[in-house]
Amino acid sequence: MASEKVRGSEKRRSSITAVPVLIISIILGVTLIWNKDEFKQTFIQRCQKFSGYNCQTIWDVFQQAFVNRDPCEVLPEAYDPLFVLVPLKAPCNTTVFWSETKAVVHDFTEKKDCFKTVEDFLLGSVLDDLVWCGKKGSNETFTTDCPEQCQKNPVRSFWKRVSVAFGGTACGNVTVMLNGSLPTPFNEASMFGSDVLKTFTSPKVKQLNVVLVTQENSVTNCTNESLGNLKMKLNKGIGYRCSEVSQSKIEWCASAPEKPCSLCW
Ligand SMILES: *[C@@H]1O[C@H](CO)[C@@H](O)[C@H](O)[C@H]1NC(C)=O
Ligand SMILES: *[C@@H]1O[C@H](CO)[C@@H](O)[C@H](O)[C@H]1NC(C)=O
Ligand SMILES: *[C@@H]1O[C@H](CO)[C@@H](O)[C@H](O)[C@H]1NC(C)=O
Ligand SMILES: *[C@@H]1O[C@H](CO)[C@@H](O)[C@H](O)[C@H]1NC(C)=O
Ligand SMILES: *[C@@H]1O[C@H](CO)[C@@H](O)[C@H](O)[C@H]1NC(C)=O
Ligand SMILES: *[C@@H]1O[C@H](CO)[C@@H](O)[C@H](O)[C@H]1NC(C)=O
Repeated sequence: MASEKVRGSEKRRSSITAVPVLIISIILGVTLIWNKDEFKQTFIQRCQKFSGYNCQTIWDVFQQAFVNRDPCEVLPEAYDPLFVLVPLKAPCNTTVFWSETKAVVHDFTEKKDCFKTVEDFLLGSVLDDLVWCGKKGSNETFTTDCPEQCQKNPVRSFWKRVSVAFGGTACGNVTVMLNGSLPTPFNEASMFGSDVLKTFTSPKVKQLNVVLVTQENSVTNCTNESLGNLKMKLNKGIGYRCSEVSQSKIEWCASAPEKPCSLCW
C-alpha cells in the first residue's frame, strides 16, 4: 500500500515524492525501533503489576538465559537463576494446572482467589502468550523467526522450567483441568503429563483433583482410559478424584461471588 502511494505520486510529479518518502521512512524507522523495544516494554509493564520486585534486574537475568545462543539449544535449566530471583509459591490447595482448557481456567482464576495457575504469578504472567529467542552472535532479543519446532527452544524450555517449579511447590489438593471435548483428555506427551505430574510427591501432595471440563458435544467422561493412565502415573500415596463439570457451570460459578469454590465441583 505505502509503496504504491509513493509510486503514484512519482508518476504525477517527481519533485514532491521526497516528502512522502521521507514521511514513510520516518514512520518505518520509528515502527522498527518501537517493535524492538516492545517486547521488553511488555515484560517490564507486566512485571510492575507485582510490587516489591526489581523488574530491570529480572529482565537482565531473563535475557541471559537465551541471548547470544542457538535458539534450539536453550535448556530449561538456563532459566534457573530467574527462579532464585523470583521464587514461585502458591498456598496449599490452590494450585491448578490446565491442558487444552486455558481460557476457561484463566477466566475462573481471574474472578476467584481460591485457585492459582502459574500465569497468575510474576514469571508466568509476564511471559504469557509471548514468543522470544536469541541468536548466536547477537545481544538482542528477537520476537520473529523464533524456531518453534525444536524441543529446546527458549519458549518451550521456559514453560517447562516454570511448570516444573510450580508443580514442585504444590501441596495439599492439586487440581488439573482437562478438556472433555477431546477423545484423549490426558495426553502423556503434554507438558503436564511428561514433566509436571512427576513433581507431585506424597505426603506433600494429598490428592489430585481432575476437573474434566465438558461441553454439550463432549466425547469423553471420567471413565476414559487415558484418565486411568493418569491415575496410574501418579506417585504412590497421592489420592485421585475425577469430576465431570460443564464449562457453563464453571463460568457460572466463577461469576457468582457468594459461591464458595469448594462447591463449584
Ligand atoms: C489444605 O488442605 C488440607 C487438607 O487436604 C488441610 O489440612 C490444610 O489445612 C489446607 N491448607 C490450607 C492452607 O488451606
Ligand atoms: C476443548 O477443546 C476444543 C477443541 O480444541 C475447544 O474447542 C474447546 O474450547 C476446549 N474446551 C475448553 C473448556 O477449553
Ligand atoms: C553485547 O553487549 C556487551 C555490553 O553489554 C558488549 O560489550 C558486547 O560487545 C555485545 N556483543 C554483541 C555481540 O553485540
Ligand atoms: C481436597 O479434596 C477433597 C476431595 O475433593 C475434598 O473433600 C477436600 O475438602 C479438599 N480439601 C481442601 C482443603 O480443599
Ligand atoms: C462414559 O463414556 C463411555 C464411552 O466412552 C460410555 O460407554 C459410558 O456410558 C459413559 N459413562 C457415563 C457415566 O456417562
Ligand atoms: C479414551 O482413552 C483412550 C486411550 O487412552 C482413547 O484411545 C479413546 O479414544 C478415549 N476416548 C473415548 C471417547 O473413548
